[in-house]
Amino acid sequence: MSAAVMSMPALTSASGGVEVNHLGVNNTLVRVTGEGRYLSLPVQETADDAKINILVDGDIAETIYVRLAKSKTDYTVPFDMSAYKGRNVLLDVVTPQGRGSIREAKDDACWKGIALVDTFDVSNREKYRPAFHHTPLYGWMNDPNGMFYKDGLWHLYYQYNPYGSKWQNLSWGHSVSSDLVNWEHQPVAVTPDGLGYIFSGSCAVDKNNTSGFGDDAVIALYTSAATSQIQSLAHSGDNGATFVKYPGNPVITLESEARDPKVFWNDETGEWNLVLAHALDHEMLFFTSPDMKNWTLTGSFGQGLGAQGGVWECPDLFKLPVEGTDETKWVLICNINPDGPFGGSGTQYFIGDFDGKTFTADKDAAGNVPTKWLDYGKDHYATVSWSNAPDNRRTVIGWMSNWQYAADVPTMQFRSANTLPREMGLFRAADGEVYASCAPSPELTSLRGKLTLKNVKATIGKKGRTYALPTANDGICEILLDIDARKADKVELALSNNSGNKVVMEYDVKARTLSFDRTESGIVGFSESFPAVTVTPTYEADGKITLRIFVDRSSIEVFGNDGRFVMTNLVFPDKPYSSLTVTSEGGNIKLSNLNIYSLKVK
Ligand code: FRU
Repeated sequence: MSAAVMSMPALTSASGGVEVNHLGVNNTLVRVTGEGRYLSLPVQETADDAKINILVDGDIAETIYVRLAKSKTDYTVPFDMSAYKGRNVLLDVVTPQGRGSIREAKDDACWKGIALVDTFDVSNREKYRPAFHHTPLYGWMNDPNGMFYKDGLWHLYYQYNPYGSKWQNLSWGHSVSSDLVNWEHQPVAVTPDGLGYIFSGSCAVDKNNTSGFGDDAVIALYTSAATSQIQSLAHSGDNGATFVKYPGNPVITLESEARDPKVFWNDETGEWNLVLAHALDHEMLFFTSPDMKNWTLTGSFGQGLGAQGGVWECPDLFKLPVEGTDETKWVLICNINPDGPFGGSGTQYFIGDFDGKTFTADKDAAGNVPTKWLDYGKDHYATVSWSNAPDNRRTVIGWMSNWQYAADVPTMQFRSANTLPREMGLFRAADGEVYASCAPSPELTSLRGKLTLKNVKATIGKKGRTYALPTANDGICEILLDIDARKADKVELALSNNSGNKVVMEYDVKARTLSFDRTESGIVGFSESFPAVTVTPTYEADGKITLRIFVDRSSIEVFGNDGRFVMTNLVFPDKPYSSLTVTSEGGNIKLSNLNIYSLKVK
């Protein structure tokens, strides 16, 4: 990822250009007296949020929440002052920790560290910072949002806290890419307002100016979240760089919690459709509109169906052809948290039909609506697709984490990455059911560097064979291989290093499953929910699988049989995995086309 450098030391100790006045045990005024592009704010991860009203010439211009450092500074975050140049800026800070005395309050580490600076260091030297996945430059990220493709650029927005590495101050961060591999960071696109935080949502390109905001305007629909959740609209006349909020907001209100609107133009009905997660009712609601401002509720789907043990969030709905047939089917994506397949977050989907008003799910042979999962790893959530993608592509991306421990993973100046981009398709499996596939986007082959192992073939039994993994760029690599296990019961693939860390994958030929055990993968103790074994069905009927495995500094994505099965899991090895060991049980296997590429840092 090309890092737009705003360089400033991540840790600042000198205070400069500010005057600090303590008013009591939990209230302090910080007056900006000097010049500088950013106000550097010292953060301590374990502190509680301080509420900071930013007063500009006496009026509250913004309110932000920051874990201002108490006993020590873990890192700093930049507050951009450029919009307020030449004006009187005063921070009215209410810290959550009441102190016994003013003297104690004065000792908080943050007061010595607050300083005006011109640059901010985002060179990101952290050990577990992904080398080829999209991540924010710094700060917290959750769901991908509002993605659209236009004029050769893939726009990716995301739930973003620019003022710390935990969930807070929700805004839409923004990155663009011409190839889904190299991401350029852009300024924050949508910031909180009087209606609340900017939660998840979607964008559409309004080609026919149905909304009246201009031909080709980019329209964002998102949730404004404060005491309640309501749906708002913003429009962009500069291809998604900046958005203007619609003064008539909100455009949808309900009497119960609903969020994450997904909007799309329906060619068949000639109107806009919108799917909204009726979170606590565990269902999706459907709306229609001629102009994206006035919406009519037309249907609902989901109560009592699929996984129901968590809130339904981040929907998507689109039509895809079923591979090798003339048939098309609608796919309804319903992210759910908790109650994912291995605890916490997960992406379930339903296959069926959509008549422009409501969705009807297909039933299986037993007459039930089956629960299906897009990815059987633990770290795949909030997956939604790009709108307006070229060549009929249905390109999706997810948040590569899990609400069970997203805020506790061992990173510091940033938290979370996206999954690799994937291309969705549909296939009919041997059980007669239609399933979704998610194959790595074709652009990802441009990540390949040196081919360190080429077209290796071997017959492997219980003694096994070990192959070296690349060492360049902290061992980041892509491993491709074919396994013919028709004569065996089980095949084990282990990635390991000499610190005793390992990830063990096991293909169970009879059960037709592939498991992924990360219980000894490295650092696992930061959450009880982290050390886990995940298992995916492989759907194949012949004991043969093809795997494509992407290993980054803190994640492994396993794609099987062109994305017919996928597992995405975070791992935090003490040092990179250095070898791959393949063994079999119950008979020999044929390994072929084993190719290993070292990957490039982006
Ligand atoms: C999903 C979610 C969404 C919500 C957003 C808030 O991870 O809970 O439903 O819009 O995160 O950040």
